[in-house]
Amino acid sequence: MYGKNSKNNMKIKRYNSIGKEEIAAAKKVLKSGILSDFVGSKSKKFLGGHFVQKFENKIQKYFKVKYAVTTNSWTSGLITALGALKIKPGDEVICTPWTMSACAISILHWNAIPVFVDIDKKTFNFNLENLKKKITKKTKVILAVDIFGQSENINEIRKIIKNKKIHILSDSAQAIGSKYKNKFSGTFADIGGYSLNSHKHINTGEGGIIVTNQKDLAERCRLIRNHAESVTKSNSKKELINLIGYNFRLGEIESAIGIEQLKKLNKIIKFRKKLAFTIINKIKNLPGLQTPVLKKNFTHSFYVIPFVLDLSKLKHNRKNIIQILSKAGVVGLNEGYQNLHRLPIFKKKIAYGPNGFPWNNFNKKITYKKGDCKVAEELQDKSFFYLSLCSYDFKIEHMKKFANIINKKWKNIQKKN
Ligand SMILES: Cc1ncc(COP(=O)(O)O)c(C=O)c1O
Repeated sequence: MYGKNSKNNMKIKRYNSIGKEEIAAAKKVLKSGILSDFVGSKSKKFLGGHFVQKFENKIQKYFKVKYAVTTNSWTSGLITALGALKIKPGDEVICTPWTMSACAISILHWNAIPVFVDIDKKTFNFNLENLKKKITKKTKVILAVDIFGQSENINEIRKIIKNKKIHILSDSAQAIGSKYKNKFSGTFADIGGYSLNSHKHINTGEGGIIVTNQKDLAERCRLIRNHAESVTKSNSKKELINLIGYNFRLGEIESAIGIEQLKKLNKIIKFRKKLAFTIINKIKNLPGLQTPVLKKNFTHSFYVIPFVLDLSKLKHNRKNIIQILSKAGVVGLNEGYQNLHRLPIFKKKIAYGPNGFPWNNFNKKITYKKGDCKVAEELQDKSFFYLSLCSYDFKIEHMKKFANIINKKWKNIQKKN
């Protein structure tokens, strides 16, 4: 049993997208005895084994991109992508505080400086006015996160950075399969990518996918993934900075599983949307409750269903509301999300020892404190909660039941006029 609905004792299992196809695919690799076929030197095997290359081909076709480079996580994918974009120590990378920590850590990894921009309360995307103000001569990359399953406004960001030498990196870890005008999230930026960790829509246990349409970026990503330093030659005409290489390679079993998972992605996204809209449509008019706001021409892949409370219209605070609803039988509610700028690593600048590196060496002016991103802070402290669709094997019946409970309980949660 995974989630327990206390009122009706309904047992809800953990979300699981793995079936007999993946088991057969993994067995095939195991029987071959070749669990990885990469070699970290210039050779035919530099690009990986049969299943890695087959998976990357399938990804290219599915997402309609020229190049796909798999990695052993999306955290390593982010590090790889930022390295490929040639950020240097002290460069500024704009990021949201409302995301998973790997986004900011991948920036710090290259000794670059994360600059946090506040978000929009309805979409949780960047507040574009705030973004404009944070761009400086040192800004090299905007890391745009497609949080919860809806893409950032990449075209709007492009307009803002027109004529500036700034790259866009899309983190679509949570938004695989969602679209803007029929094109996949993650494919509009210079580099984009997806996570294949165990709670994502499709998974290979751990894994990541980098996508790009630019050949030189794909080449640099492949190098960083696989011990670049021993492959690159000093007489190369290309700029060779940031080519410290790693072992960020995806295995053959994971790749074989990924091929099967990709075949299921359409169906998974369709069902996820059906789950989400079943509950949203039944509760969207409740006073004091903001249900997901979809931007025009964007689709949502609902990694989770985000909600925001208007506490001025409600009798209870967030903690009590979640308690009331959970006790009555709603499974998977969580309060708050993330405020990266308030984590000790940033506030105290202790990412690399106690001496404030890299900030004190390159960019002392940048500080992190409460009050920097007021919308994200209010959401975190008071008004945001979500239903964790990515965690449970929810059925349509669950969504109907939860909507009924919420509607019934809301009568005592909302303030009477
Ligand atoms: C927005 C976002 N970025 C990055 C990551 C890191 O991905 P991974 O767990 O594959 O390293 C996650 C993982 O949850 C994520 O949600």
